[in-house]
Amino acid sequence: GSPDAKILIVGEAPSFDEIRESRPFVGPSGRLLDLCLHSAKISRAECAITNVFEELVKKGDEKKSEIFSRSGELLWTTKGFTDAGRIAAKPCLERIAKSNANVIVALGGPALHLTLDIRPLLKWRGSIVVNSLGRKIIPSIHPAFILRGEYHNRYLLINDLTKAKAESDDARFIPTARNYLIDPSYSEVLAFLRRCLDAPAVNTDIEVLAGQVDCFSLATSAHDVISIPIVDAGFEHRWSLEEEREIWRLYAQILQAPHIAKINQNITFDLAALLELNNITARGPLHDPMVAFNVAYPFLEKKLAVISSFCTREPYYKDDGQLADAPKVEDFQKRWLYNAKDSAVSFESWEYLMPDVDSGGYRATYDMTIDKIPALVYMMVKGLRVDRENLATARAKAKANLAEIVAKLESETGRKIITAAPKKAAEKRALAGALNVNSPAQLKEYLYRDLKLKPYVNSAGAESVDDVALSRIVRRDGLRTAKLLQDYRRIAKLIGTYLDMQFDADDRMRCSFNVRGTWTGRLSSSQTIHGVGGNLQNIPDDMALFLVSDYQPEAQNEAVV
Ligand code: URA
Repeated sequence: GSPDAKILIVGEAPSFDEIRESRPFVGPSGRLLDLCLHSAKISRAECAITNVFEELVKKGDEKKSEIFSRSGELLWTTKGFTDAGRIAAKPCLERIAKSNANVIVALGGPALHLTLDIRPLLKWRGSIVVNSLGRKIIPSIHPAFILRGEYHNRYLLINDLTKAKAESDDARFIPTARNYLIDPSYSEVLAFLRRCLDAPAVNTDIEVLAGQVDCFSLATSAHDVISIPIVDAGFEHRWSLEEEREIWRLYAQILQAPHIAKINQNITFDLAALLELNNITARGPLHDPMVAFNVAYPFLEKKLAVISSFCTREPYYKDDGQLADAPKVEDFQKRWLYNAKDSAVSFESWEYLMPDVDSGGYRATYDMTIDKIPALVYMMVKGLRVDRENLATARAKAKANLAEIVAKLESETGRKIITAAPKKAAEKRALAGALNVNSPAQLKEYLYRDLKLKPYVNSAGAESVDDVALSRIVRRDGLRTAKLLQDYRRIAKLIGTYLDMQFDADDRMRCSFNVRGTWTGRLSSSQTIHGVGGNLQNIPDDMALFLVSDYQPEAQNEAVV
């Protein structure tokens, strides 16, 4: 391409097709790149295209993504270039220096390291970053990676190329204008909160530190945002008691106003925390860019870093919010800016995504998902009462039962039964000859080699000792050991997943709901952020016995148990 092309695309290295034609990206990766350029409304003729390495390379260890020269010299790993790699990439650097492109798209790790020297790629993908030479770089995914079973990622490449096209008229990076009100005075806080009461929609995002809200942000648009600290730098109260009370009162009024739409990334989490910690129940319309993104692009990761890279021009910032053990004043300032940015970016992402939701015909799915949120928030906070005493009795019984099964297995097999692989050498020696009932490999060995039973083969053609295989062995061979193994697994699972579960101090089982948590977009539930409770959707009857309704008289509860 011409050095005057406005977009420069930097790949990795030629393959056989490219060497044969002396042109970059003419093989399978090139065809995919062409398709993505087309979708981004870029003609190949408007770009210059080059490669970091000029000659054929060999791939090494997949995990480290090693790249070797044909003569076997290591050129690049995920840690960066080797000396030999730098020498090999020098001509490419010279070509980049000569190019007058306004924007450079770096495809894959080597191109990213050559142009920016930041890592890892996946965090920075889709960001517009200015390098030390003042060049505007957009890192993206290499088409060859997309072709290796990650085909859905082409949407990310198309998105990044579209961004490159929009950036190609100007060599400067002009960040999206945002009015950040950080570290505000009390009167600034009140003025902003009152302004929110007149807004049709606000994005709000809380940060939680040591179990309390330490700051929250409110955005009335993608460009106007405040972060209100509750805890000051140095962990003191930021406001007097009266001031803080007034701030919470106004915030609650905003959240409860039926005419104000509340938006946030994963709003279920924020609303549950606000209900639990501050006794605030949101009313009025709710919105969530995470739901919109997942409904429209279900195969892409739905965390804000990815959504923001897809929907906004905000460079990657998601590592800025963490407080170190002994944070300085600047760290709090950074956290407040991060908190404000989250609201602005979430607002902007939601505005970007809703037209996609509508044009794709996904509105009903979006609305149905959002409609569940108030009930899920209530369920998360309320939890279910646990009958701890009867549960403890059942747990003890189940454990005794399990010990009995292990003893029977020992007498049936004539071997010591263990349930975990020994780690230390001395232990290994002492337990030589023992049978680990949790090891499918050892069970296959025992059933199919030692006992010489005919192996059961699953649909993938592999020998199996799963529950179906054990049932068939019981039926076909009448082997008592197989039945004992089935019982062992069922009871061990019941104990491990349910009877041993930890609960909150008030004896209630809670969970964290993820509105579109499964691969197919269904609701999922898991432990809370405090690491207690668990999946509340598939409770087996043996455990459901110990979750009791709040609304039944005590006498009936006992009868139920
Ligand atoms: N992969 C690259 O990185 N460059 C090419 O030219 C072809 C495939």
